[in-house]
This record gives sequence, structure tokens and C-alpha cells, in this order.
Amino acid sequence: MPRYASIRFFLFLQLFMAVQPCHRVVTYAAGGGGWQLLQNNIGIAALHMQLLNNDRVVIYDRTDFGLSNISLPDGKCRNDSSELVVKHDCTAHSVEYDVLAKKIRPLMVQTNVWCSSGAVFPDGRLIQTGGFRDGDRKVRTFFPCNDAKCDWVETGDALEEKRWYSTNHILPDGRQIIIGGRGQFNYEFYPKTSAPNVYNLRFLVETNDRGIENNLYPFVFLNYDGNLFIFANNRAVLFNYKEDKVLKTYPAIPGGDPRCYPSTGSAVLLPLKNLRVATIEAEVLVCGGAPKGSFYQADKKHKFVKALDTCGRIKINDPNPQWVMEAMPTARVMGDMTLLPNGNVLIVNGAGAGTAGWENGRNPVLNPVLYWPDGATGSRFQSLNPSTIPRMYHSSAILLRDGRVLVGGSNPHIGYNFTGVLFPTELRLEAFSPPYLGKQFNYLRPTIVSSSASQGKFIGYKQKLSVRFKVTGKLVADSVSVTIVAPSFTTHSFSMSHRLLVLGNKKVT
Ligand SMILES: *[C@@H]1O[C@H](CO)[C@@H](O)[C@H](O)[C@H]1NC(C)=O
Ligand SMILES: *[C@@H]1O[C@H](CO)[C@@H](O)[C@H](O)[C@H]1NC(C)=O
Ligand SMILES: *[C@@H]1O[C@H](CO)[C@@H](O)[C@H](O)[C@H]1NC(C)=O
Repeated sequence: MPRYASIRFFLFLQLFMAVQPCHRVVTYAAGGGGWQLLQNNIGIAALHMQLLNNDRVVIYDRTDFGLSNISLPDGKCRNDSSELVVKHDCTAHSVEYDVLAKKIRPLMVQTNVWCSSGAVFPDGRLIQTGGFRDGDRKVRTFFPCNDAKCDWVETGDALEEKRWYSTNHILPDGRQIIIGGRGQFNYEFYPKTSAPNVYNLRFLVETNDRGIENNLYPFVFLNYDGNLFIFANNRAVLFNYKEDKVLKTYPAIPGGDPRCYPSTGSAVLLPLKNLRVATIEAEVLVCGGAPKGSFYQADKKHKFVKALDTCGRIKINDPNPQWVMEAMPTARVMGDMTLLPNGNVLIVNGAGAGTAGWENGRNPVLNPVLYWPDGATGSRFQSLNPSTIPRMYHSSAILLRDGRVLVGGSNPHIGYNFTGVLFPTELRLEAFSPPYLGKQFNYLRPTIVSSSASQGKFIGYKQKLSVRFKVTGKLVADSVSVTIVAPSFTTHSFSMSHRLLVLGNKKVT
């Protein structure tokens, strides 16, 4: 596949003047970040989000929620006799949000994209896979454009299996792997070749709690050695997808409580540093979820069990890897974990009790929490300023190029429901500005003047990257570092293909 051979990955370049934990007290005292309402009504619930390389975000929910609050353009309508809710629908269920112009544009999906997955190809195309019913084996492509002419292009039966609640990850060769999904204990690749394309994965059978699951939307990360770390329910394996082989089985998280859908926690691969050493230390952090039995209690008994308030952190390349447990300031299920350009982790959205699924969450957690991976054990968390908008089931959060975090969605109901319910369908889009965007850090915040990897130019593996930047404060050369971030496909509290590299600092002039 020569087309995917070039390594033109879509990454953001972020320059960050390290604000080390010793500055933390200052940050804390000066405020814990801020919220901004970006759009009062984007017409749909932001259930799935992906930032593209032109600073636009593709957002979609589903075609069987009923009529959305935004019309399709040019009198377009979708007729689908197999739809359960509306067979003739002139509303949009996907939109494009232009971050710079602050504008919403309706897009048209042909079939149901609900609870699907995706990844961005090296050439910038968003490849979305699967969904529900008529959409479950479809692939939809969105090629970013600046002229407002691009829209979803759908390919029928492009997947071997139905993919609903699956996880995708972009691979070093440019393909994507699609893992699991409801009733699918296997994985496949896109694009597919003529070779057999479905491979059973026993681990998904082993982690499936009968009748409850707890292993959907598994947390998948690409290790530096090319293998995949796959976490489902309460444990993980290191997996060689090229040879269809489990290489390592990690211990279960202490306590054994489930962390994947519907007991939805979240996870990130912590920033990768020291990229020149032989064995790079890669660490995964899994936070929140719901105690065993919570889904049954919520779904069948309407009892809402307090969510998990723990995180497990593991060095995945250790000869004897062990989970180290840490306590969050608050319990959280359905939180979204997002890597920030300075290497910290934001945990935002979600609920303090219950689980994912219709009407199953209670006690919205309005305060985001910051996690300092390099902080001293026992003081890594910092509670930040709250939003006023509950973001329950079917909400999402992604990092924007300017360092803000885009937050949207929430619809714990089987249809759009704006009245007479505890948590109305949420059409508002917000941005959270982490503490580093505070005025008190203006003197430290760099402006990138030019770089050898700016738009239209590409950087490959092992190539030198130079960056020119401006900063008004006085710099300590050693404290300058450059990070690059792969923007995620985010849904159901998991940011797929999200990754942050801390690049070496060879020379500062
Ligand atoms: C969106 O909601 C507003 C307020 O309820 C309503 O006036 C408008 O007609 C709706 N638009 C669509 C396309 O449903
Ligand atoms: C969809 O159905 C409506 C009637 O329900 C009809 O007027 C319209 O022409 C149909 N559109 C297409 C594209 O088939
Ligand atoms: C919204 O929820 C309420 C309360 O459960 C219910 O009575 C109503 O029918 C729902 N509306 C829609 C449009 O689903």
C-alpha cells in the first residue's frame, strides 16, 4: 500500500515551557482553569468528536434519536424505511464545527453511526467505521475541506463484521485496526486486503461479563515496540497484531472492578519521553469506572452505586508490571481523559454514581481534575473550576490545537429529550481552558513562529524538527520542550489513537 507508506502523521506541535510541580501552588492559587460557552445549540448531541487537520471538528450522534435540532442543507432529506424512529428525516445527525470561525455546518450521514469508532488516516481523512443496524458494517470517509463542500462518503459493507462499541487505533503502516464491539470477540483491519481479515481474540471472550459486558470500547494503545496494549474490563494484554499473538498478560487491577462499558472509566497512555533509549518507559493510567454489580443495580433496580474513585497506573514494559493505585479527589464514571500539551492529563465529564446506559447515571461531576504524572505520589491531583452543565452518558471531550479542551454532548435518553427529564439532551458546546491558559502564564506561553513541520510540510521518523518561537518571559533553555500530540477520535469516554510525545531538546538558541 504505497499510499500509506509515507509517514505524514497528523500531529499537533505544541511548545511548552515546563511548569513543574513546584509551580503548582501558584497555579492553584491563581485559579483552576475556566469555562467558555462556545455554541448554545449545535443541533445534535456531541457523542463522537474528531479534530481534523484544518482546525475543524467532525461531530455526530445517531440517526435513530428522532429529529435533531439542525436541518440538512439544500432541502436534503434521508428516507430510510428500515429506520425505527423517523423514516423521512430532513435533519442532520452530524455537523462540522469550525473552531476558528466558530461556525457549525450540517453534514449528512446515510446510515446509523451510533456508538461507532474511527481514526484519521495519514492523509488527513477521517475514517469512521460501523454503527447500529443499517450502519453496522459501513465505513464512512470525511476528507477535510475549507470550502464547505465536503461531506461524508459512505462505503457499503466495507467491514467484515458488525462493529458497534468497538475501538480503533491507527497503525504505523497507516491502516487502522478495529477491535471488538458488541458480540464481536475478534478484530479486523481497514482497509481490508484480499487476505482473511477477521481474527478471533480470546481475551475479549475472557473479559466479557455475561449479560453485562464490561469490555466494550476497550482501551487500546500502541506501545513503542509496535505491539498493542489492550485493556478490557479490569485487565490487559500486550498483543502482537502482526502475528495474532498475546505476548504478555498483565495482572488485574487491584479490587477487580470493571472499567469499560457500561462500567465506563477512561484511560490514557501517559506522555512518552526519552524516546532514544532502548526500552521506552510507557505507562498507562486508567481512572474511574463502576464497582462490580453497579450496572445491574442501576439498570434493573434504579439504585445508583457510587462510582470508583481510583486510578490504576502501570509501566507496561516492566519485566514485572504491577498496578499502582491512586485515589482521585472524586468518584467518577463516564469521565473523559485527555492528554494536555504540557504532559498533564485532564479528567472531565461524567457522573459520581451509576453507570453508562439509558438513564443509568446520577450525580454529575462538574469539576474537572488535573493529573500531574510527574508529581509526588499522593499529590498528583488538582480539582479545577466547575462547569454548570452536566455531561452524562454520551458526552465527549477533545483537545484543540490552541490547548483548550472542547466539551460537548450528553444524552442519557433513548431519543432527543429536552423536557421533563433529569438530564435533558445537551446541545451546548463548551471549551475548558486549563490553568496554563491563565493570564498569569502569558509571559511563559510561546507563539510558534515557524517550524519544519508546519502546515503543508511533513516530518518523518528520525528527522530533525526545528521550531522557532516567541516568548516574552525569560527562559531557562533546559526547561524548553516540544511535544507533539495525535488528536483523538473520542466517544464513550475513550480517546482513540490519542498520544503525546515529548521530543528531545537538542539545542536551544
Ligand atoms: C430547534 O429548536 C428551536 C427551539 O426549540 C426551534 O425553534 C427550531 O425550529 C428547531 N430547529 C430545528 C431544525 O428543529
Ligand atoms: C423521500 O420521501 C418523501 C416522502 O416521504 C419524498 O417526497 C421524497 O422525494 C423522498 N426523497 C428521496 C430522495 O427519495
Ligand atoms: C422524554 O422523557 C419523558 C419522561 O420520561 C417522557 O414522558 C417523554 O415521552 C420523553 N419524550 C420523548 C420525545 O422521548
